[in-house]
Amino acid sequence: MRYLTDSQLKELKVRLKWGIFEKIKEISKVEEKSFNYVINELLSKVLGNIANQDNIKDLFKEQPDLVFKKENIELYHNDFLKVDLSQYKGKINLLVTSPPYNLSIDYGTHKDDITYEEYIDFTKKWLSKAYELMADDGRICVNIPLDKNKNGLKPVYADFVEVARKVGFKYQSTIVWNEQNISRRTAWGSWLSASAPYVIAPVEMIVVMYKKQWKKLKKGESTIDRDEFIEWTNGVWTFSGESKKRVGHPAPFPVELPRRCIRLFSYKNDIILDPFVGSGTTLISAYQEGRKAIGVEIDKNYIDITMKRLLKVLQQKRLDYVSK
Ligand SMILES: C[S@@+](CC[C@H](N)C(=O)[O-])C[C@H]1O[C@@H](n2cnc3c(N)ncnc32)[C@H](O)[C@@H]1O
Repeated sequence: MRYLTDSQLKELKVRLKWGIFEKIKEISKVEEKSFNYVINELLSKVLGNIANQDNIKDLFKEQPDLVFKKENIELYHNDFLKVDLSQYKGKINLLVTSPPYNLSIDYGTHKDDITYEEYIDFTKKWLSKAYELMADDGRICVNIPLDKNKNGLKPVYADFVEVARKVGFKYQSTIVWNEQNISRRTAWGSWLSASAPYVIAPVEMIVVMYKKQWKKLKKGESTIDRDEFIEWTNGVWTFSGESKKRVGHPAPFPVELPRRCIRLFSYKNDIILDPFVGSGTTLISAYQEGRKAIGVEIDKNYIDITMKRLLKVLQQKRLDYVSK
């Protein structure tokens, strides 16, 4: 039998650890899963039965929904109302999202045709969870329709602001997004008559609110330039919507929307949350703007679309870096 000296043993241990580390990195790259995910999978397989013991099970509870973790981006696959984001309690600096609008859109997993009362209740629930996660000077930018006329006219924007205020958020302002999407009108109500005409504004709203105080508590690095600041502080934004076909999602917003919110309302390295990720637009923008991005999506198909979009953006950034 050959005995190792102390220094040989130390070297062997380092090599072993490094080998395992490299192997796991390799698997996570091939499988397009996060390092933590792969290590948890391996541990649960290796430990098998022992993992049933409660104290060990707790180890795996850490972040079971985390499906993507790379370069300051975390993507969770679950219902936002159920996902465990307790590690971010009181830490989110900016939330940018467009929640489901309850317009009977086919989102796969999410049911988008609940009653208006149920929809308001859902809004209250997700806003309450978001409130817990926000920093005291945290802000929210929520893209929401002004109103809806499917299954009865409803003032969606006005009701959203009311619910958000009840939850505790304070009102700051509203940006009107002129999407330039003037589809051919057919529903006039009463044509050329005052009898019962319909008025529809072809715009969407971006509600801007905050948790406790509007002025940021700490100093940070802003990334907005002079012209952008002057243009974007005028609360009517005009840019086109995103193609559903191009991104493979029924209701995406364009990167321009989160980009403006992120530059205008957050510092570099701030934590940005999107509880309704869809095709991942907010995460892409947050990453491109040098912020940390956290996202949650309930539907597996959109999780896959988001991961593909993110990998493309990460790859592009690497190529840009190499070619510089
Ligand atoms: C309006 S879309 C978001 C689109 C996104 N802004 C984009 O650019 O692609 C809303 C998304 O929320 C998801 N969703 C619905 N209910 C959810 C829930 N409870 N938790 C997490 N995601 C949910 C839907 O599957 C849908 O993809």
